[in-house]
Amino acid sequence: MSTIQTDFTRLLGIRTPIVLAPMSGASGGALASEVSLAGGFGFLAPGVENFRDEFDVARSILNVPSGPLPIGAGFLGWKLEEARSPHVALLELALENGVRAIWLSFGEDLGRWIELVRIHDEKSGKSPKTLVFVQVNSVDEALIAAYTWKVDVLVAQGIESGGHGSSHAPPVLNLVPQVLSALPPSSGAPPVLAAGGLSSGAHLAAFLTLGAAGAVVGTRFLLAEESQYSDAQKRAIIAAKAGSAVRSFAFDELRGTTGWPAGRGADVARIKEQVGEGSKKGDPDTCDCLGWYGGGTAGQASAREGKGVTRTSYPLWVDCTPTNKDIVRELHDAAVARLEASSVLVGDDA
Ligand SMILES: Cc1cc2nc3c(=O)[nH]c(=O)nc-3n(C[C@H](O)[C@H](O)[C@H](O)COP(=O)(O)O)c2cc1C
Repeated sequence: MSTIQTDFTRLLGIRTPIVLAPMSGASGGALASEVSLAGGFGFLAPGVENFRDEFDVARSILNVPSGPLPIGAGFLGWKLEEARSPHVALLELALENGVRAIWLSFGEDLGRWIELVRIHDEKSGKSPKTLVFVQVNSVDEALIAAYTWKVDVLVAQGIESGGHGSSHAPPVLNLVPQVLSALPPSSGAPPVLAAGGLSSGAHLAAFLTLGAAGAVVGTRFLLAEESQYSDAQKRAIIAAKAGSAVRSFAFDELRGTTGWPAGRGADVARIKEQVGEGSKKGDPDTCDCLGWYGGGTAGQASAREGKGVTRTSYPLWVDCTPTNKDIVRELHDAAVARLEASSVLVGDDA
């Protein structure tokens, strides 16, 4: 496999700048490990069931019975900040397991958790130190993360992304250049990764040429064999069309995930009826999955090119469920092809 080299891949010592997002309910030990084994970097999410056991799964797949793990773990700030939050113990568990990186997002006091990570490193004498990734939705947040918290990697999340995000976030195509212009790589600023709606190697190539050091991919990986999403949920993503994913908080209301800032959404009462039935029947149109039913799930990447996300590459998804390795490989190879192809666009005057 060829490599794509950026400040980010050099920092982590990896072969391709593709990062699996920590996705509650989807990113377990298998998903995270396979992305790292394929040359990218995978994050576990504590929202997945049996977070503790997922470390054993990861150790077995990675063949690392003890010691540091070449994967990361992602935490939601507001979950850590709840009174007597069990997530604080999970953060400590991740650190004890020697994860290579901790990802933090959506909190009022992220600096406190970054401090906790750094104190843990100091006390344990960990080397290399745990890298801190922070996901941001604006230039102001990026400046605080870079200058106040001195994070190692910035993830610029655009409005198109799956999962939760700020309703004020610009499209990722605008946010990434804004962040890069406020924090030029030449100034020693942390590498910036693009997140939101990225589902193809061409997307990755486009963001590398904009100056990003890599891409964070979420929705695209929900379809991987190792994803914890159910078959019905995967079918719903495949069936998605352009316009299927709409950002709202309806999903949180459905699931009772309180704590997120209040928001306006779709007609929750109507959706509640449909989703209850749809999830039972495994109906892709109404099962508990797509972002059109709320903020907690698949994003715009579910409708790549106006078709189901995998339809172009895996027409019979039941027979051809891609593994994580397939997805990393496909994204990497297509990005290299696009980068090589674009170099011929530059010529001398005739
Ligand atoms: C199902 C799902 C769950 C997610 N859960 C989290 C999470 O727990 N923490 C977090 O910081 N981001 C979460 N995200 C957002 C990702 O970090 C990332 O910004 C997003 O997936 C990128 O957009 P994409 O899904 O279009 O690739 C989630 C995304 C999805 C699709």
